[in-house]
Amino acid sequence: MIIYKKINDITQHLDNHRKEGHTIGFVPTMGALHNGHISLITASNIDNDLTVCSIFVNPTQFNNSEDFEKYPTTLDNDIDLLELNDCDILFLPSTDEIYPPNFIKQHYELGALADVLEGKYRPGHFQGVCMVVDKLISIIQCDTLYLGQKDYQQCLVISKLIELKGLNTFVKIMPTIREDNGLAMSSRNKRLQIGEFNNAATLYKTLSYLKNNIAPGDVNSIISEATNLLTNNGFIVDYIEVANEQLEIISNWDGKSKTICLIAASINNVRLIDNLILT
Ligand code: PAF
Repeated sequence: MIIYKKINDITQHLDNHRKEGHTIGFVPTMGALHNGHISLITASNIDNDLTVCSIFVNPTQFNNSEDFEKYPTTLDNDIDLLELNDCDILFLPSTDEIYPPNFIKQHYELGALADVLEGKYRPGHFQGVCMVVDKLISIIQCDTLYLGQKDYQQCLVISKLIELKGLNTFVKIMPTIREDNGLAMSSRNKRLQIGEFNNAATLYKTLSYLKNNIAPGDVNSIISEATNLLTNNGFIVDYIEVANEQLEIISNWDGKSKTICLIAASINNVRLIDNLILT
C-alpha cells in the first residue's frame, strides 16, 4: 500500500491509473478502523481496479469539541488492517492540506434532509461532512464511493452532495456490520467500557423489537416503549424515529410503505447511532 499525504502526489498517481482506464473505488474514513470499514474496502476491491482509503479526522463536522478531542486514533493498527486487506492507496492528509488558509467555505443546499435527526441534534454537522467529502472526491475523482448503512442519513446527504455537484460518481451503501451482541460497529465503540459495551447491545435489541412489533397506524406508542427500553438500560435518548427511505418522519404508518427506524442515544457520554430497515 502506498501512503500519500500531499494532494499533488496522490492526484499524479491517480491520473496515471485513470489514463490506463482503471476504475477507482474510494472509502473515506476518520480512522479507528473496524470490520465495518474493512467490508467497504473489500467491496471496493471486488468492484474496482484500485481502492483508495482516506483517514482524516475532519474537525469541521464535530459540533462538540470534546467529541473531537476524544475521537479515537489508532493509526498504526489502521495501516496494518488496510495492508492486510489489500487496500492500494491510503490518503492521509494534514488539516492544512485539506483546509489551507485560503480555503473558501461554501454552503450546501441539502434541504429538509439535513434538518431532521442528526441534522437537528448536531447543527452544522452535515455542512462539515459535505465540506470534507466535496474536497476528498474532487481529489480522488473516484468512480464509486463506499459508505456504510450505519450512517444512513450521511449516505443520503452525500448522495445529495454528489447530485448537487453534477457528478456521476456511484454511491454504494453497504450493510451495517455488527458485533456478536448486535451492536453496530463504530469507531466510537472504542470509548465504551466493557460493561457499557455489553449494555449497548440494547440499541439493536430495541431496533429489533420495533421491527418485530411495528403495526399499521400511530407509531408513537411503540416509540415510547422503545424509549423506555433504552432509558431503563441507562441510555439518554436523543431520538427514536420511524421514517421513509428519504427520511421523512412517519407518525402514522400505512402498513405498506417501506420504513426505517433510526436511533441516537448516549451511554456515559458516548453517543451512538444505529438504524434498521423495518419494513
Ligand atoms: O463517516 C465518516 O467517517 C465521516 O463522516 C466521513 C464520511 C469520512 C467524512 O469525514
